[in-house]
Amino acid sequence: MNAWLGQPLPVLGFEQTFDQPINFPHTKHAGPVTEGGLGMDCTYCHRTVENSSTAHVPAVELCASCHRAIGSESSEELKKLRESAGIYSENNQVIVDPKKASPINWKRVHRLPDHVRFVHSAHINYLTNNPNAIKNIPEHLSIYGKENVLSSEVCSTCHGDVASMEQVHQVEPLKMGQCVNCHRENGGPTDCAACHH
Ligand code: HEC
Ligand code: HEC
Ligand code: HEC
Ligand code: HEC
Ligand code: HEC
Repeated sequence: MNAWLGQPLPVLGFEQTFDQPINFPHTKHAGPVTEGGLGMDCTYCHRTVENSSTAHVPAVELCASCHRAIGSESSEELKKLRESAGIYSENNQVIVDPKKASPINWKRVHRLPDHVRFVHSAHINYLTNNPNAIKNIPEHLSIYGKENVLSSEVCSTCHGDVASMEQVHQVEPLKMGQCVNCHRENGGPTDCAACHH
């Protein structure tokens, strides 16, 4: 057990996941309106995905912008969220106090080993401009046709139908073979240094 503590964070594999500090439902937020979701764009929360290497998981302030007012008082998950965001009520007024806020320690589901380099933006740009390379497109988006997908909808290629997941899990192996195959098929870089530090 002690030896384990010195190990780097676990690299999760295919179909693995774990419980998060707050049970965040992508279904309610990003799920299609026809299925009771809000139909939010992925980039509303994953704000850097189109322009930088990482996608970014939103800070609790973004959640608070809605949840200071939205959602049931009695929801256990939203109680945890309000506490993290420094939201409380006093004399029938909702107060948001950033001094009482603390970050939510989301656990990483997708993580490549440290010697590998991955850049979201290059892939989002490529897939948006080359819709034939998009894979796993969810049924609720397929009605628009691949040529009309938004940049925020190409994620399914590597992450599957996250908008339908109660809990995010990894659906693609994302191993070297898959990366290199796709690079060969689409003119991406195949030299070792492109992906390895
Ligand atoms: C309201 C904000 C919000 C929206 C909208 C949203 N996400 Fe997320 N996403 C989160 C949060 C918070 C987490 C971290 C908690 C978790 O893993 O469930 C997360 C986690 C993820 C992860 C796992 C990250 C990791 O740790 O590896 C993926 C992949 C992801 N989102 C993709 C998407 C996609 C694709 C969409 C659009 C279909 C989307 N998200 C829409 C907030 C959002
Ligand atoms: C655009 C507004 C908006 C944003 C931003 C937003 N949410 Fe929500 N969220 C909602 C709505 C609307 C519901 C559905 C509420 C309901 O059904 O009572 C919801 C539901 C939830 C639920 C389920 C509550 C329950 O008990 O059913 C959780 C947990 C949650 N949100 C967490 C988050 C977190 C964490 C973030 C930030 C990463 C976030 N939300 C950002 C609007 C938002
Ligand atoms: C070409 C494959 C691919 C595509 C397309 C892709 N991702 Fe990822 N994503 C990955 C890989 C690989 C990782 C792990 C990266 C690492 O560990 O450095 C990851 C990690 C993440 C993470 C967690 C770490 C971070 O970067 O913040 C989130 C959130 C995420 N992706 C969201 C998205 C969203 C949203 C989209 C669509 C707009 C998207 N991804 C499109 C492959 C992809
Ligand atoms: C859907 C096919 C596809 C998959 C899957 C894919 N890539 Fe790529 N990748 C590309 C293409 C195409 C480019 C070239 C984009 C361009 O130049 O416009 C690229 C570019 C890159 C770059 C160079 C980015 C830059 O701007 O410096 C890196 C690094 C990279 N990919 C790493 C990975 C890794 C690591 C994986 C696996 C986890 C992966 N890719 C999976 C298609 C893919
Ligand atoms: C398109 C991106 C990409 C390219 C190009 C690439 N790799 Fe990798 N490589 C990865 C990813 C992602 C991993 C981690 C996942 C895995 O182990 O498959 C990895 C893992 C490895 C590992 C560790 C395997 C293990 O079992 O731990 C070695 C060694 C390696 N690569 C060598 C190379 C060499 C040598 C080249 C050039 C001939 C190369 N790679 C080119 C993406 C790439």
